[in-house]
Amino acid sequence: MSKAVIAVVGSAMIDLTAYASLIPAPGQTLEGDLFTTGFGGKGANQGVIGALCGAQVHFIGKLGNDLFGDSIYENFKQLGIDTKFVDRSDTPNGVAHIWVDGDGENRIIIIPGANHEIDINRAVEGIKTIPELSVVVAQCEIKQEVTVAAFKAAKEHGCLTILNPAPFQELSTQLLALTDWLIPNESEFFSICGQDPSSDPALINFRPGKNSIVTLGAHGAVLIDTNGAITRCAAPTVKVVDTTGAGDAFVGTFAYALASGKTALEAMKLGISVASLSVTRKGAQSSYPTQTEIATLS
Ligand code: RIB
Repeated sequence: MSKAVIAVVGSAMIDLTAYASLIPAPGQTLEGDLFTTGFGGKGANQGVIGALCGAQVHFIGKLGNDLFGDSIYENFKQLGIDTKFVDRSDTPNGVAHIWVDGDGENRIIIIPGANHEIDINRAVEGIKTIPELSVVVAQCEIKQEVTVAAFKAAKEHGCLTILNPAPFQELSTQLLALTDWLIPNESEFFSICGQDPSSDPALINFRPGKNSIVTLGAHGAVLIDTNGAITRCAAPTVKVVDTTGAGDAFVGTFAYALASGKTALEAMKLGISVASLSVTRKGAQSSYPTQTEIATLS
């Protein structure tokens, strides 16, 4: 297996999470069960699980020049994530307000803050100068123009690009053309093409000639390769406590696995295993398996 060197161009947030068996209706006040603060942000989550899997992760992003930004920076350092291209801003750090209901389902409002101030030139510089970089990962919590520039540099340097279109936004033709692997969940898939991923024709016509994976929550994931071949993989049955960050666990694990030389199918299976374990625990990064646990998964 080759060394897995990945760059995540993306967001880092502090998650402020309220757990309550029932979610209030408009105008209603309800008592919840628990409040937590934790490390989140789709980009940071994907980088952290990549590092826990064993990848050398380089994070390219922007943190607030505040206590939240300081603690995220320290967390990256502790996990061995390279921070050379993590810049700081006087704009407050990004935060996510999250409600998790009794079924473990979440509702999230993000305030991007400093995440929307990533400098395009710094992102491109990072991609061009990170040694032995093979995979570049991005999401949609930063400005799309930054991702386009980073992916353009990535393709010029022979890297694979993975885009997780979350939260959903219209994707430019240019970004789609620069994306080797598009990994939406069911609702993002529907937003992109107006169809349900249970339909094989919808999957085949999703991105002809390109690779995609649609994550299906408790139903696993489905891979569509460049020839239009479809491979569905089930997920193990688990007791769901909190689904926050599970999609990110899948994407970061998949990126690590591709970068370390696994096949796409092997990478997808490992991603499902890691994501399935993450939903049995509370929080985003706090729910991720340890390196020792990951070593037991396939
Ligand atoms: O995907 C989960 C993440 O979405 C949370 O950690 C939250 O920060 C939001 O970005």
